[in-house]
Parts: sequence; structure tokens; C-alpha cells
Amino acid sequence: MLPNKITEQLNITYPIIQAPMAGGITTTSLIIEVANAGGLGMIGAGYLTPEQTKKQIAEIKQLTEKPFGINLFTPQSFVVHTQDINQALTLLDPICKQLELDNLTVPSIPTYEEILGSFQQQIEIIIAEKVPICSFTFGIPSKEIIEQLKGANILLIGTATTLEEAKLVEEVGFDMVVLQGQEAGGHRGSFTANAPKAGIELNEFIRQTNQAIDIPLIASGGIMDEHGIKTVLELGADAVQMGTAFLTCEESGAHPIYKSAIIQANKTDLQLTCAFSGKWAQGIQNDFMQYMEKYEHLLPPFPVQNALTQSIRKQAALLNNTAYMSLWSGHNPQLAKQQSVKALMDALTL
Ligand SMILES: Cc1cc2nc3c(=O)[nH]c(=O)nc-3n(C[C@H](O)[C@H](O)[C@H](O)COP(=O)(O)O)c2cc1C
Repeated sequence: MLPNKITEQLNITYPIIQAPMAGGITTTSLIIEVANAGGLGMIGAGYLTPEQTKKQIAEIKQLTEKPFGINLFTPQSFVVHTQDINQALTLLDPICKQLELDNLTVPSIPTYEEILGSFQQQIEIIIAEKVPICSFTFGIPSKEIIEQLKGANILLIGTATTLEEAKLVEEVGFDMVVLQGQEAGGHRGSFTANAPKAGIELNEFIRQTNQAIDIPLIASGGIMDEHGIKTVLELGADAVQMGTAFLTCEESGAHPIYKSAIIQANKTDLQLTCAFSGKWAQGIQNDFMQYMEKYEHLLPPFPVQNALTQSIRKQAALLNNTAYMSLWSGHNPQLAKQQSVKALMDALTL
């Protein structure tokens, strides 16, 4: 794998980015090991409070001088009515009983203004701490925020699931774009009305985008090995962003039974669901997804449904019960291994 414009701009050896994975997966040791092996480690800070964000940035800076990045969820406004929340809670009730969660307290659901406030604080921390790279999913932040970050010489990466979104990311002046294909594990980063629910097949998406935009392309979705990397680089991508392959590594913070579930899974076990969070995401099918499938059109939007299912996911993890956990995975779980980041990076960069 030869150095290229992305390795130069990101100041890394290999064009390999460890996907930011919010929810405790992207531990400091995962990020440090990726950096030590010549890739770019990314903090998935979408669910972190400003204080937690500051703490993890400080930990990483103490342990390495190599570059690393951080990823935020661009806040999207949402409308929710009390009756929708009550309906969703009624639907979740049988699952609570199953998990012996008899007192499902209605969690505090943050308002859009509170989410925006916390996001702005994260931006200020990123600038103050001089994090060199910042990526976004679920949309493009305001012009003011883009200007603040660019003024601090922070390199900006957007996420797109369609050509239209990739063009918008380029237009606002981002430095690079992640092309998230339909093979990707986890939430779709979509932010336009026309984006298909599942996304576009990655190779087709690279072909469409390659000629149409000039900023460097980071391919993402189902890439697990050096063969996968070679294929997308040959099609015109400049780098890869890999989630599932790093998720099952020893240094990742994913629950051990989640890692095992991925290692035992096949492509045919995957399903798209919005039942955990109110936003479409891809993971290994389980009882929760199957039970909720028929109610998906009734559920409140992200992040409301995410807040409503939080105690279910927590309790399921405590009970080692994968039937009610979110098991996000990309299209090629059969290629995942339980190994160190170093072993994975060695295999990827042979
Ligand atoms: C568990 C999990 C959590 C994820 N969280 C985030 C996130 O916080 N921010 C983000 O931009 N992408 C997130 N993604 C999507 C990845 O950036 C990437 O598109 C995806 O992992 C690529 O597919 P792969 O898992 O097959 O490599 C997540 C993916 C997974 C599997």
C-alpha cells in the first residue's frame, strides 16, 4: 500500500482508518494501537458527554504524539409527541418483563436544544485540545462550526451515503468524504430525504463518486481484509474506514458476547432495523429486531427511541443476553477475528 494524498494529509503510514464507533467500543487502547501500527484511530464521541470527550482526548494525547481523530453526530432536529413515546413504551413493555426490568423508568429525553448545546461544547473542546482530525455523521454542521474548526486547522471529514450527499460534503468545504456503502455495519449516516434506507452498494457508490467530486474518498462498508482494501483502492478510493474488523479486536470495548456473536455470524444473519434507536442501522438479527419489525413505522425518531431502549440494552448486556442487545455488524462478519490490533494491521498491510 503506497503513500497517497490521504496518508500525506492525515500524516499516517497506511490509508487505513479505524471507524469511530460510538458506545464505548473505541477505547483509548484501540486508538493508540491503530496509531502505533500506522493507521488512523478515531474516537466515536457521538454518545459521549463533553466531560467524557475531554477525558478521552487527554488520555490519548498522554500516550501518543501520533495523529488521531474524533467523530461527532451532527444534531438533527426532531419532533416527538407524548403519545408516541407512550406507545413505544407500551410496545417495549413485554421485553422489559422478559428481562425482569419491571420498573422501566421513562428515561430523560434530551431536547434538541440540549443536544445542540452539548455538541457545541464538544466542538470547543476539540478546538482547545487541537485534535487534528474531526469527522461527522448524520449530516453537515453549521457554517459557523465549519469555520471555527477550519480556523483552528482541523481537517474535516464528512459522511455520505449517496452521490448527492457526497457533493454537499464537498460543497461546504470538507477535506475528505467517507462513502458509506450499504454493506456498512451500524447506523446509516444519511442526511437527505432521497437517500435509500439501506444505502448504495459500495463499489457502485465509488464508481459514481470518483468522477463527480474532487476531494479524497474514504470507502467504508464490509471491508475486512487486504483483498477488500485492494478492490476499493483500485476503483478509485483513497483510503478505507473499517468498523467491524476492529470491533472484534482484543482492544475494542465491545462486550465479549457481542464480539462472539459477530465471529459466529454470516451475511445472511444481518438485518436493517430502526427499532433500537429510531434511525436505520445494520446488525445481526435477534429477537428484539424480529419482535419490533412490525412496529417500526410507529416508533419515535432518533435519538428518542434510542433513549427509550437504553435500559433494555444495558440490562441485556448485564445478563449476557444477545437477544436484546444491538449487534451492529457490516456485511462480512465471517471474516472477523478475535485478535490484537497489531495482528489485524499486520495482515492488512502485508
Ligand atoms: C458498532 C458500530 C458503531 C458505529 N458507530 C459509528 C459512529 O459513531 N460514527 C460513524 O461515523 N460511524 C459509525 N459506524 C459506521 C462506520 O463508520 C462504518 O461506516 C462501518 O463500520 C463500515 O462497515 P464495516 O463495519 O463493515 O467495516 C459504526 C459502525 C459499527 C459497526
